[in-house]
Amino acid sequence: MLKLSQMATAVALVVAGSAAMAGEVEVLHWWTSGGEAKSVAELKKIMQGKGHTWKDFAVAGGAGDNAMTVLKSRVVAGNPPAAAQIKGPAIQEWAAEGVLANLDATAKAEKWDSLLPKVVADIMKYKGNYVAAPVNVHRVNWMWANKAVLDKAGVKSTPKTWDEFFAAADKIKKAGLIPVAHGGQNWQDFTTFESVVLGVGGAKFYNDALVKLDQKALTSDTMKKSLETFRKIKGYIDPAAPGRDWNLATAMVIKGEAAFQFMGDWAKGEFAAAGKVPGKDYICAAAPGTANAYTFNVDSFAMFKLKDAGAQKAQGDLAASIMGTEFQEVFNLNKGSIPVRLNMKMDKFDDCAKLSAKDFVDTAKAGTLEPSIAHGMAVKPAAEGAIKDAVSQFWNDDKISVADGIKNIAKAAQAQ
Ligand code: BGC
Repeated sequence: MLKLSQMATAVALVVAGSAAMAGEVEVLHWWTSGGEAKSVAELKKIMQGKGHTWKDFAVAGGAGDNAMTVLKSRVVAGNPPAAAQIKGPAIQEWAAEGVLANLDATAKAEKWDSLLPKVVADIMKYKGNYVAAPVNVHRVNWMWANKAVLDKAGVKSTPKTWDEFFAAADKIKKAGLIPVAHGGQNWQDFTTFESVVLGVGGAKFYNDALVKLDQKALTSDTMKKSLETFRKIKGYIDPAAPGRDWNLATAMVIKGEAAFQFMGDWAKGEFAAAGKVPGKDYICAAAPGTANAYTFNVDSFAMFKLKDAGAQKAQGDLAASIMGTEFQEVFNLNKGSIPVRLNMKMDKFDDCAKLSAKDFVDTAKAGTLEPSIAHGMAVKPAAEGAIKDAVSQFWNDDKISVADGIKNIAKAAQAQ
């Protein structure tokens, strides 16, 4: 039996111990739509379960442009969050600034090297050290369709080529419905654009033009055809698209106001949150001409160097939780993506996720797995931003000729 004074000391030690082990994590992300918010709530729950305090730092704005602007000002002010949603080549740029924490201890203890596809692990490392934890794999080259709308318009099968797509879109227009649900931000234009380039030119062309930024590919006839196809799609959107958020465009497909949307599978998170079932209420299909290719978009969190021991412990736990099986399953079921961790059971996932998982592996083998340029995976942020602007200007201004659109995009690709 402990004496009272001994007990008091023991209690004090436990309290002090847990105080040192628990910490606050302020997490910057841009997951604010219905499906996204449900997904990030799962991470919060897991962290709270470990005794940490979650400080939500959500900055609305699809694809994270606003979030990245806010992040820069916080870091410049010397007050970074504990963790931030940072992806692709931007991870390298932040690491080069010397502000990111080294996650190797967690990565080693949790065996990340053997649990991640190499293509993903490489993105998470700076000079061989892990500086970010991957969350998921989103596929970008999807086309979402409302089944009842297709039936109503007499579209018998999901279009597999762009010619089939425009024939279907004409039928939908005739039936008095909106063929394509589109929103009004440059990244949404860019998302559609990259699927068009992939569909028109194929994976090798996509890689030459939008990953290697090869000037010959960027000024080729295939790019001309891509821009013509891209512009043609605009004829099938509704006049209220400018300013619309991506999830509101998804809602148009969910409600049967529109037939199709070109969007990554975070859109599936919206269908799921609305209780819709793939195959029955809606269809997920590769964007026309892209069934044998895959544009990937891996979400990840980087941690910033912090002095407080509790905060550091919380960062380690956050990194370990993100790669843990519990989170990988529940988060991705809500988010529309697939687990990034290898060898996860997929039995709870729907057919779209199963197709994505299969195509991820198959396209990697076939050499047609490509990083998404519109979602920060393919090129450095400066070039990405400049090309995105040029693509969006072309989309929004019908007076820009295809020849000038090509010139502007090729010039933007030289931005450093
Ligand atoms: C992110 C997704 C997010 C989407 C819309 C993408 O860039 O990778 O996680 O759901 O933007 O905001």
